[in-house]
Amino acid sequence: MGRLSSKSAIITGAARGIGAGIARRYAAEGCALALCDLNDEGLQTFASELRDQGTDVLALVADVTQRDSAQSFVDAAVAKFGQVNVLVNNAGIFFNAVFEDMGDDQWDRMLQVNVTGVSLMSQIVIRHWLAGSIPGAIVNLASISSVIAFTHSAAYGTSKAAVAGLTRHLALQYGPQGIRVNAMAPGIIHTDMLPNLEDMQRWAQERIPLRRPGTPDDVAALALFLASDDSRYITGTVIPVDGGWLLD
Ligand SMILES: NC(=O)c1ccc[n+]([C@@H]2O[C@H](COP(=O)([O-])OP(=O)(O)OC[C@H]3O[C@@H](n4cnc5c(N)ncnc54)[C@H](O)[C@@H]3O)[C@@H](O)[C@H]2O)c1
Repeated sequence: MGRLSSKSAIITGAARGIGAGIARRYAAEGCALALCDLNDEGLQTFASELRDQGTDVLALVADVTQRDSAQSFVDAAVAKFGQVNVLVNNAGIFFNAVFEDMGDDQWDRMLQVNVTGVSLMSQIVIRHWLAGSIPGAIVNLASISSVIAFTHSAAYGTSKAAVAGLTRHLALQYGPQGIRVNAMAPGIIHTDMLPNLEDMQRWAQERIPLRRPGTPDDVAALALFLASDDSRYITGTVIPVDGGWLLD
């Protein structure tokens, strides 16, 4: 029996990186999966891989910033699985921008994907849970940028601080209905999202107490805990998964 057997989870931005890592780990624990991404080709290739290993997977293109798209995706997941138990708000974007040169479009896009996307998906899934009196768990992707500042990272850091705030607000609001909301705050995780991956790897080996960057598997282990009943008395937290980076 897997730790998520008889459950189903929605994971956004699951075609690659951390989202794909979480999907693999949930699948190994018996979870049925509803995955979305903007990248249809990558998503369908990954979904076929999971299906070949025996996982029940729905994989659809959906844009978490668009209400109709997000709603259709959640409706399709509910139609396929009857109910959804876990929402992982993983879809996100990252770029650095010199603040005084930053364009309105850059700011808007960062907040749209990283904040509005999380809010929209959470609202749609929470409505499903409230309508069916279903206890659910939300796992958000914040970042250590939620708590410390990085040069040229005002937009990203602000977006991730908002995710941490939204996590606390929703946890407070919906705790009485049995809905738990937590966030993970990764440090450097080895994915294609990060530019200058080699520099970051070197930097991580010198500076991070555990002397390496993280992997999607490292984050997926925490995502499994936060989705499972093992974390049944934990809500509203933002948990670092950073190799000890925040200590320094
Ligand atoms: N990699 C890191 O070091 C790191 C650190 C801290 C936090 N995070 C957070 O973890 C999450 C995943 O990061 P990653 O490194 O795997 O990134 P990634 O770029 O490898 O994957 C993100 C996925 O999200 C998808 N996506 C983007 N916009 C979308 C939208 N509007 N609708 C649906 N899907 C969309 C992309 O197509 C992509 O497949 C992000 O929220 C990121 O901010 C990453």
